[in-house]
Amino acid sequence: MKLLDTPAPDPWHFARPELAEGYLQAFGLKLSSARGLFARRRMGKTEFLRRDLLPAALEHGYLVAYTNLWDNRSSPDVALIAALSDALAPQGVKAVLTKLGKPVRKIKASAKVAGAEGSLEAELGAADADRAGALREVLRQLDRQKKPLLLVIDEAQVLARAEHADFAHALRAALDIRKERIKVIFAGSSETTLREMFARASEPFYNWAALEPFPLLGDEFVAFTIKLMNSMARHRLTLAQGRLAFEELHRTPEFFKRFVERYMLYQPQGDAAALAHTKASVFSDDHFLRQWSELNRADQAVMTMLARGETDLHGTASLGKLAAATGKSATKNTAAHALRRLQAQNFVTRLGMGDYRIEDEAFAEWVRRRKETS
Ligand SMILES: Nc1ncnc2c1ncn2[C@@H]1O[C@H](COP(=O)(O)OP(=O)(O)O)[C@@H](O)[C@H]1O
Ligand SMILES: [Mg+2]
Repeated sequence: MKLLDTPAPDPWHFARPELAEGYLQAFGLKLSSARGLFARRRMGKTEFLRRDLLPAALEHGYLVAYTNLWDNRSSPDVALIAALSDALAPQGVKAVLTKLGKPVRKIKASAKVAGAEGSLEAELGAADADRAGALREVLRQLDRQKKPLLLVIDEAQVLARAEHADFAHALRAALDIRKERIKVIFAGSSETTLREMFARASEPFYNWAALEPFPLLGDEFVAFTIKLMNSMARHRLTLAQGRLAFEELHRTPEFFKRFVERYMLYQPQGDAAALAHTKASVFSDDHFLRQWSELNRADQAVMTMLARGETDLHGTASLGKLAAATGKSATKNTAAHALRRLQAQNFVTRLGMGDYRIEDEAFAEWVRRRKETS
C-alpha cells in the first residue's frame, strides 16, 4: 500500500532505519502504546517521522496516519479526522462523508482519493459539520481493520491549547480504549508544553505517554552529507571542515544543509565564505526582529541573559540588569513573571529547577549577535 502523500525521494535524506525499528519494536513488544518525542525546531523530527518511521511502519503491516498540527493550529480536530480517514483510504473518506450526509458520489465516485481529500476537509470545516460524529465513524472503520494503526501527531503541543480541550479529551478517550490497536507518537518542538500535556493531572493526556528527547543528528549525518557532496563537488571538503560548519551552526541539520548548498554553488569562494554567508542568513531574520520588538523590556533582558548562558536569573547581578533594562526596581518576581510569559509563548523552555533555555537556537544566536553589534 502506498502512503498517500509520501514525500518525493530525496538523495540528501540521511536514513535512520535503526531508530525507526526501535520505536516499532517497542510498540510490538507492547512496552508502550504511546511515546512523546521532543526536540527543537529544525532538528529533523518531521523528516524522520515521514521519511523513516512511517514507511517502516507500513512495511511492518501498520496502517499509518500522519498530521502536523502546526499547519492546522485552528482546527486540529479536522486535521486528525482527515489523517485517520486517509489511513483507510478510500473507504475511510467515503464512510466519513456519508456520515456527514455527503455521499461520496457527489464528490467523486472514483477512487482518486487525492481529489476527495480536499473535499473531506472542506466538509469537516463547515460550521455545522458533525465532527464528533465523523471522529466516531472513522474510529469505527478503524476498529474493523485487521491491521493496527500508527498515528503520528506532529507538533502535538497544539492540542494543549485551552480552545482545543474538548477535542483533546474526546481523542484521549477514543485512544484509551484502543491501546492494543492504535499506537501513537506525539512529536513536538515545545518541550515545556508537551511536558505539561503529559504531566499535569488536569490535562487530557495526563500520564499517557512517556516523554523523551528525540535523538539528534550528529557525526554520521555530517559524514553522509559531506560524502555525497564530495561526489558532486569539484572542490572537495574534508570531514573536519564539515564538522566545523555543523558545530558553528549549532548542530542544526537544516542550517548545515543550507551551508552545503551555498558551498556547492560558490565553491571557488571556499567553505569559510559559505559558512559566513549561511550564518549571516540564518541568524539574522527580519522575523526575529519582529518577535523581539513584541517583547517587553523585562522579557528582552531575560532573553539576553539566557542567550549568553547566564543562568542565575534571580541573583543580584541579574536583577540589577533587569532593573537597568526596565528602569524600575526588579525583584525575583520580575524575573519569574518574565520567564512565565516567555514560556507561554514558547520562546523559553524549562529544563529543570531554575534551568531555562531559549527554544530556538537560531533566535538565541540572533539575540547574542544583536548585543554584539549594538
Ligand atoms: N535525516 C535527515 N537527512 C537529511 N536532512 C535532514 C534530516 N533531518 C532533517 N534534515 C534537514 O533539516 C531540515 C529540518 O528538518 P525537520 O524534520 O523539518 O525538523 P523539525 O521537524 O525538527 O523542525 C530538513 O528540511 C532537512 O533539510
Ligand atoms: Mg517539524
